[in-house]
Amino acid sequence: MRYIGNKENLVDRIFLEMEKRNILGTSIFDVFSGTTSVAKFFKEKNYKIISNDLLYFSYVLQQAYISNNTIPIFDKININFESNMFEDRLSSVLRILDELPPVSGFISKNYTPDYTQNLDIPRMYFTTENGDFIDKVRIAIQEWYEQNKITKHEYYILIACLIETVPYYANISGVYGAFHKKWDPRALKKMHLKPINILINQHENQVFNSNSINLIKTDRNLQADIFYLDPPYNQRQYAPNYHLLETIAKYDNPVIKGVSGMREYTDQKSNFCNVNTAINELDDIVKYGNFRYLVMSYNSEGIIPKEALLDILSTYGQMSFVEFDYLRYKSNKRKSANKMIKEQLFFLEKKI
Ligand SMILES: C[S@@+](CC[C@H](N)C(=O)[O-])C[C@H]1O[C@@H](n2cnc3c(N)ncnc32)[C@H](O)[C@@H]1O
Repeated sequence: MRYIGNKENLVDRIFLEMEKRNILGTSIFDVFSGTTSVAKFFKEKNYKIISNDLLYFSYVLQQAYISNNTIPIFDKININFESNMFEDRLSSVLRILDELPPVSGFISKNYTPDYTQNLDIPRMYFTTENGDFIDKVRIAIQEWYEQNKITKHEYYILIACLIETVPYYANISGVYGAFHKKWDPRALKKMHLKPINILINQHENQVFNSNSINLIKTDRNLQADIFYLDPPYNQRQYAPNYHLLETIAKYDNPVIKGVSGMREYTDQKSNFCNVNTAINELDDIVKYGNFRYLVMSYNSEGIIPKEALLDILSTYGQMSFVEFDYLRYKSNKRKSANKMIKEQLFFLEKKI
């Protein structure tokens, strides 16, 4: 998924650097999980996973990829799965959702131009057809769940499929804070749901939708061999930039405002987007966290200076550091926007 700071393409390298330092174990806590790419990587290595994020749509992905540990069979819903032997059950259910008649709901009424003509700038996040598609799918998933036709994990898996599908059709350049004023060809395509990969390991994984520091301070039993920290590294808050994924995941008819139709996000502001509060919060996480090793990703352009990070971490034990170049991809098509920046990795073995 397109997501600021997604570690999908870096997690192999992060793991390599951990192996070099013998930072291994059987459990890991992905404290700022976002798209869950790091949690998924370690789940595939059969680590017990704990994951968390402030955003609810991330929690949906965590439920679907990390907490769920069975292949969904949708046995409570009345579908004749035998009719297509070559399709797995998740794909069959997605096909049924794909083929439902369109419904205009909260998304099409607020984020497509036909329904928002009354605004100074009609919103062009989705074509009307795709807005109706999102609504019909989200409403059907909710009804099935409330009518007890799908299990809790099947519910999250289906919403996760929708969340993973939406970015391929959104008329934006990466984040949802603004929409294009002309249609990007991607947005004009007819929407089809994409199945997610189901991952299975041998553990009771735990997933959370909390502020990391509250979680770590209040649940002292939350323990893992390794804590992986990948906090925001600049002033840009995640909640406003992904407000539409949040609303599709929650589907709670929020009060929205402004050109982009933003939902309220006071409760989801991150202290990591301000240098002073970020330093205090990081210090608390390291102090209260119940771990042996801590691995932290940061960025050479981050608001906490490298020296301050080294200072905090070295108070708590033996640490090391590595940085390497990688190409930052900017989705706004200007080649010049793609530039090499440094990924910084901090490693700490905590003094007992
Ligand atoms: C750099 S992104 C993580 C990206 C993730 N590693 C991935 O591969 O997708 C930072 C994440 O931290 C979350 N976040 C920010 N402050 C938080 C807090 N105080 N507690 C929990 N999550 C927080 C954001 O919502 C965002 O998803």
